[in-house]
Amino acid sequence: MPATLIFLLVVSIIGSAQSQTWAGTYTADPSCNKAGCCCFSGQVVVIKTPPNTYALDSKVAGSCFTLTSLSGSTTLTGYTGSLTISGVPIYLQLSSDSRNITATTPFSSTCIAQANKV
Ligand SMILES: *[C@@H]1O[C@H](CO)[C@@H](O)[C@H](O)[C@H]1NC(C)=O
Repeated sequence: MPATLIFLLVVSIIGSAQSQTWAGTYTADPSCNKAGCCCFSGQVVVIKTPPNTYALDSKVAGSCFTLTSLSGSTTLTGYTGSLTISGVPIYLQLSSDSRNITATTPFSSTCIAQANKV
C-alpha cells in the first residue's frame, strides 16, 4: 500500500475517533420511568479533561435508593464508555451526532436514562 494511502487512512481513523463531543450540558429526557428506574434529573454536565478523561455530574430521581446525584469520572475514547458509581456499573452511549447520552446499567436491564444536549 502506498505510504500516502496509509497516512490518509490513519488520519481518517483518528479523525473519526475524535469527532464525538461528550463534553457539554444535557437535559434529562422525561421519558425515563421514575417508578421503576433511577433517572437523570435536571441537567447532566460532562466536562472534559484532556486528553480524554471526562467528569460526569447529574442529579438523579426515581428509584435510586438514597442517591440524589451522580458524579464520577471516566475515560472515553469512542461513543461508548462506562463508569462505576457506588459499586454500580453504568454504561454510557453517545449518539452518533453527539447530541444524546444514553445510560444503562446491568442491574436493571429495562431502565434507560437519556439526556439530550442543550
Ligand atoms: C436525540 O434525542 C432527541 C430527543 O429525544 C431525538 O429527537 C433525536 O432523534 C435523538 N437523536 C439521535 C441521533 O438519537
